[in-house]
Amino acid sequence: MSIIFEPNNKIFTMQTKHTTWQAKVSKYGHLLHVYYGSKVEDADLSYLIRGINRGFSGTPYIACDDRGYSLDTYPQEYSSWGSGDYRSSCLEIEHEDGSRAAELLYVSHKIYDGKYILPGLPAIWGKPSEIETLEVLMKDRSTEIEVILYYSVLEEYDVITRACKICNAGNKPVFLHKALSACLDLQRDDLDMVSFHGRHAMERILQRNHAQHGKMSVGSVRGTSSHQANPFVILCDQTAGEEHGECYGMSFVYSGNFIAETEVDQINQTRFTMGIHPDGFRYLLEAKEAFVAPEVIFSYSSKGFGTLSQNFHDLYRNHLIRSTFKNKRRPVLINNWEATEFDFTEKELVSLAVSAKELGIELFVMDDGWFGSRNHDKSGLGDWFANREKLPSGVKGFAEKIHKLGMMFGIWIEPEMVNEDSELYRKHPQWCLKIPGRLPNLERCQMVLDMTRKDVRDYLFEAVSKVLDESHAEYVKWDMNRNLSDVWSADLPGERQGEVYHRYVLGVYELIERFTSKYPDILWEGCSGGGGRFDAGILYYMPQSWCSDNTDAIERITIQYGTSFGYPISCVGAHVSVSPNQQTGRETSIETRAAVAMAGTFGYELDVRKLNEEEREKVKEQIVFFKKYYDLIHEGDYYRLTEVGKRTDLAAWQFVSKDKSESLICTVMLQAKANPPFLRLRVRGLKEESLYHMEGTETFYKGSALMHAGINLPVVYGDYQNVNFVFQEVLS
Ligand code: DGJ
Repeated sequence: MSIIFEPNNKIFTMQTKHTTWQAKVSKYGHLLHVYYGSKVEDADLSYLIRGINRGFSGTPYIACDDRGYSLDTYPQEYSSWGSGDYRSSCLEIEHEDGSRAAELLYVSHKIYDGKYILPGLPAIWGKPSEIETLEVLMKDRSTEIEVILYYSVLEEYDVITRACKICNAGNKPVFLHKALSACLDLQRDDLDMVSFHGRHAMERILQRNHAQHGKMSVGSVRGTSSHQANPFVILCDQTAGEEHGECYGMSFVYSGNFIAETEVDQINQTRFTMGIHPDGFRYLLEAKEAFVAPEVIFSYSSKGFGTLSQNFHDLYRNHLIRSTFKNKRRPVLINNWEATEFDFTEKELVSLAVSAKELGIELFVMDDGWFGSRNHDKSGLGDWFANREKLPSGVKGFAEKIHKLGMMFGIWIEPEMVNEDSELYRKHPQWCLKIPGRLPNLERCQMVLDMTRKDVRDYLFEAVSKVLDESHAEYVKWDMNRNLSDVWSADLPGERQGEVYHRYVLGVYELIERFTSKYPDILWEGCSGGGGRFDAGILYYMPQSWCSDNTDAIERITIQYGTSFGYPISCVGAHVSVSPNQQTGRETSIETRAAVAMAGTFGYELDVRKLNEEEREKVKEQIVFFKKYYDLIHEGDYYRLTEVGKRTDLAAWQFVSKDKSESLICTVMLQAKANPPFLRLRVRGLKEESLYHMEGTETFYKGSALMHAGINLPVVYGDYQNVNFVFQEVLS
């Protein structure tokens, strides 16, 4: 049993393999947070909670003689606004009389095998034998507002998930102004927050800041999780590193607006909150209606970031991603975007496919530009039928040609968008998000379809299904190339306009769910101008996401490094593109580009017809190599061997098979130096006592030697050189 309730002291203890979370119902009925950290067995830790009379931190009415008891200083499981806790709140409710307050008290709880269900929302899943759940019913002291707090424990993964449901059990409507998913109150002030910021074509750059008095937050109000911030953050002690230190990882399983916030309070405690961003959020709960706040995944490691990342990687691979490609090898693809952009003919694409096929590439993906009047980015979005000038035999005829080559066929779509210059917009101008009487903001000349509307989703489902049916597509890239603005739905009354951001996300999820259920054998790849919607929510539906529009191998090292903290390699869309790179002009070898793309889904996105013979031979070898080590790369443990950003000479990463018998180490020497110092690299995750053979040599190393003494890196000439090492355990 991983969840235990001790009725005398009213203590809930949730145990995973290496961690413990404890909460307690106080004598006045509030649910207090007791502890989250390294495993402590059979212990009541509530002695950790102390109160003294502090000026300007009041007491609940019922505890008036108990002056040390204050919601403003006691650690809580779910904080609410308006009743004397002045720190960050999770819940802010406006009642019918205009008052804004809630004081949540414990009513009852249940513990059961299996996972809680969040209808319409992505979430971690698993068998009843793998997951145990605690539901705590709380009720506002003065109204009929009820809150159900959900906790699920995945013991083997050191993971606890949380979500909640806010129910209006009364007879009068209320407005939610804030309904976050979870709160974690830690009684310490020595924490750093690691978060991942960025911009288009440079996503998930790691930043680390000490959480100080006051609030510090990252988040998105762009309607998507965004390029600019990622809904995955880490709180860690100030000395934590890859292999040591305490760290708490929090991942929001949601693809829209979010906030992740720390607040260090007056007595040096840190509150962390996460959920849907309150800006632009106002949710009407009519009598008997409920609102479900999406899931937050928590994991804790006392052994540094490496273990924390591996917890998330394993969890996502086994209990988040549902696609049939979860356990199925994904084909090596070629995408025509960087080779042709909008400017292609069927003949040209077929010739590209023929050339790719010769190299061993298995899947041809036709990107943007195949539909409607799509000859540039100013027109066509919304018209999901073939552009006959480019594809005279339609998508069907073109796909047949690809299939005849013995390749799989894949196609790009951007269902959530519309151009003003499109048949769809001319027919249904009210189908997009815009505010009457205002000129809408445009991004890439396009507007956002109102995904809250069922008629819009039905149209998209029908139009895109037709294309998928006639082409027998095996892969779809689902793109999304702008953020939301002018958020107003013609389909909702004024009082519900504050719900549009969230309903938009629910609409997108509903449509993707319909597609992925109808076409379970298609490999779906998410994309939002690269990595603008790279989050656990999308990965629940689609097993991989295009990581960035920046395909420069050296910049990708930084992007993929940041991404790897929260997301497994098998989710990271990565391709070999042309050199000099189209985005940066940087030149790198085909080996370096391949090594970086192999720390991802691996594919090509360049005109392979223009490669010289030597490069073509190398590409053939790369594909064979990737297929040979596919399981090691996609299923093995991933280690970051260097801190990108701190080291300017070397970037290195490593894959180790789960049984530790095989390992691949990839290095890129970043800056060439005259008269260079020797470089040595210590690897990780092997068996100390085993002997390992270094592939391609006659050399054998003891696991302990590789891990403690390290391997010598060769002296190389020129910037950005790649050297890989494969080690196989020698069985005696
Ligand atoms: C943005 C994507 O990230 C690119 O890969 C490409 O598909 C373009 N959109 C096409 O418009």
